[in-house]
Amino acid sequence: MRIEKSVSFLEVLQIALLVALACATLFAYDPELKSDLAQRRQAVMEKMGNRGMLILFSKKLRPYSGDVVYEFRQENNLFYLTGIRQRDITLVLIPQNLTYREILFLPDQNPRRELWTGKMLSPEEAAKTSGIENVWSASEFERFIDSVLYGRPYRTNRYLQSREYRDFVKDLQRGEAEVFLLMEPRPGLTGEMSREFEFANRLRERFTGIQTKDASKIFDQLRVIKSPYEIKQLQEAIDITIEAHLRAMKHLHPGAWEYEIEAVIEYVFKRHNSFDWAFPSIVASGPNATVLHYQKSQRQTKDGELLLIDIGAEYNYYAADITRTVPVNGKFTTEQAGIYQLVLDAQNAAMALVKPGSSLSAIHQKAVEVLKEGLFRLGLITDKSGDQYRVFFPHGVGHFLGLDVHDVGRREHLQPGMVLTVEPGIYVRDDSLERLAGRGVVQEELEKIRAALNKYMHIGVRIEDDVLVTEEGYELLSKDAPREIAEIEALVGRDQEIGVRSQESGARR
Ligand code: GLY
Ligand code: MN
Ligand code: MN
Repeated sequence: MRIEKSVSFLEVLQIALLVALACATLFAYDPELKSDLAQRRQAVMEKMGNRGMLILFSKKLRPYSGDVVYEFRQENNLFYLTGIRQRDITLVLIPQNLTYREILFLPDQNPRRELWTGKMLSPEEAAKTSGIENVWSASEFERFIDSVLYGRPYRTNRYLQSREYRDFVKDLQRGEAEVFLLMEPRPGLTGEMSREFEFANRLRERFTGIQTKDASKIFDQLRVIKSPYEIKQLQEAIDITIEAHLRAMKHLHPGAWEYEIEAVIEYVFKRHNSFDWAFPSIVASGPNATVLHYQKSQRQTKDGELLLIDIGAEYNYYAADITRTVPVNGKFTTEQAGIYQLVLDAQNAAMALVKPGSSLSAIHQKAVEVLKEGLFRLGLITDKSGDQYRVFFPHGVGHFLGLDVHDVGRREHLQPGMVLTVEPGIYVRDDSLERLAGRGVVQEELEKIRAALNKYMHIGVRIEDDVLVTEEGYELLSKDAPREIAEIEALVGRDQEIGVRSQESGARR
């Protein structure tokens, strides 16, 4: 039985809007991203010299324990060119194949799999998200590769193949054009073989003369410069991270557990739909602050100590990385303030060098210069000319930031659109004296340092901010996270004043 009802134009419009909204929630579609993606694929093909064939695979699922796997995360370069988060996809770019320059291989929708793990993308959805017109079944991938390497037509006929494509196939067979694959990280003799290495081996065994080439450098060169769209994603990740820092500072009080502070932080991440974190959160109190990548979060904070919080939300695949070091009871001691101010001065001096033409190594050297002066003044080193300072500042001053927290790029001169961290630190550890001795500091000098070491023992301070290189210099993307001593002191423990109490449930791991 049909119910006859006339539908007004307004109702049709409402339904259309609802359908559009439902679709939008099922798969990401962003016109700005789509135009970025097309430009990135074009740029990759240009860097390939508009010849050769690029193949990018999804990463395999990683086992966690038993039959539980880690949450899937798309391989960054594949995400960079497709915007697609679904697993088991493969991208092929062949600049000289004028009919099919870009092909995305997508697993067929499968009701059984969808019952367990949710909706899979349809070819239309994948095409809409990525802007790639040719979305083919993943089951066609091997047959397609065979056809390319044997020079046979696929989804076309011989007469429709362009001269460029036929020339490319001949070059490929003669080893004069290459198959580009991501060959980083390299496995060495004993490391795990990535899918790319296995695939390259299979190609060499079965199609003699085929040459493969590492595509990583192409991506490194492109990804190091961020587009306005990417900067917006980074800013979002940074803003979420700043909110997490503020909440953590307000919640902090003597007796709070490290894991409890970590929970406050990661609650903020999740609340903002941040995928999770960009790297495991570092919440390190007292002596733990002198362990650079301390991740256990199992200690209870004590009155009079510092808490170092090095965290980064991941938003839409982009990473933030911000460190603050704060007094647990809301007031820096004279010694803590002395070290803190020195690190802050080094950071400000280093940051002032962020501008086009400068480099990470110049920025590092500036931080070293300021830290050496300060460490000498505090009596922690006896020689400013050598490398004694490295006992207290053992890491680099920063790194690029993007899809990876330690993003691609290293030695290049800075250019507008690059995003980097500036993160000096000082760490006074139980083993500092031995490490000074290991650097050749003689007994007499060590004796002079001993008193200062005792005075500053177990103080670990890092201050880390995220900076965008602009035409004029830099923009501090994390400027809303307080850095000055007075600002931090005004924030720490504010929740306690309004009666938010911590749970004391002891250590678990
Ligand atoms: N959170 C890791 C780093 O600061 O590089
Ligand atoms: Mn960092
Ligand atoms: Mn960090």
